Amino acid sequence: MTTSDVAQDAKKAPLKDPWELPDVSGLVVGVLGGTGDQGRGLAYRLAKAGQQVIIGSRAAERAQAAAGELGLGIEGADNAECARRSDIVIVAVPWDGHAKTLEALREELAGKLVVDCVNPLGFDKQGAYALKPEEGSAAEQAAALLPDSRVTAAFHHLSAVLLQDPEIEAIDTDVMVLGEKRADTDVVQALAGRIPGMRGVFAGRLRNAHQVESLVANLISVNRRYKAHAGLRVTDV
Ligand SMILES: NC(=O)c1ccc[n+]([C@@H]2O[C@H](COP(=O)([O-])OP(=O)(O)OC[C@H]3O[C@@H](n4cnc5c(N)ncnc54)[C@H](OP(=O)(O)O)[C@@H]3O)[C@@H](O)[C@H]2O)c1
Repeated sequence: MTTSDVAQDAKKAPLKDPWELPDVSGLVVGVLGGTGDQGRGLAYRLAKAGQQVIIGSRAAERAQAAAGELGLGIEGADNAECARRSDIVIVAVPWDGHAKTLEALREELAGKLVVDCVNPLGFDKQGAYALKPEEGSAAEQAAALLPDSRVTAAFHHLSAVLLQDPEIEAIDTDVMVLGEKRADTDVVQALAGRIPGMRGVFAGRLRNAHQVESLVANLISVNRRYKAHAGLRVTDV
């Protein structure tokens, strides 16, 4: 190494530790479609970890009923109010209603950190299979429909059964987090890490969300074969 190499190295900013994540404990988390299994499960786990959570629904009273059942200070509102009042908004509606839901909330979601966990899947006699959205993935569809939001994708591989089971203290799984801006994916990784047993791992940009969403079809096959609620671990990180 020459002295000029050394001088150049010294000028470079020190690499940031990828596990150094922001404190997200003060952020309000909204869950669109939070009355469903996945939304309820995430709301329950995040609220249990101390996060302020608002469940969203197409009908405010359904959200309030779900919130009342879960307790833990969770509130319920219609999807628009949920989006307006939250800092981070998790999209947990079925693929069928994905585009329509987001189109209608473009204004409320402007400036918000959106976390899409939607898996576009089809089902037939042979089991689950991945659909190929026109935009590439559900997450890319969200990004196209919400140009003023910070869209990320995460929480695809979780079992709603495990999330909702109060007997289970820790959920043993990694959460792949995708997005365009490191500051945003760091926040989502930190949010995943609030749930005991869970770790958020950066897994690339939204153009690679399709594989992550599709992998759920494989996990469903695993679950059927082994009567399990399989999760995923990324090794060597
Ligand atoms: N279940 C899992 O284990 C799991 C795991 C990872 C990811 N996910 C993903 O999370 C999403 C939700 O899954 P889920 O099992 O919770 O689904 P779900 O129970 O079928 O739906 C969630 C909620 O979405 C609302 N909804 C239903 N149809 C809608 C439509 N056409 N437009 C807008 N909202 C609609 C309903 O709430 P209101 O009637 O109260 O509005 C419903 O309670 C899916 O995209 C799935 O791929 C699920």
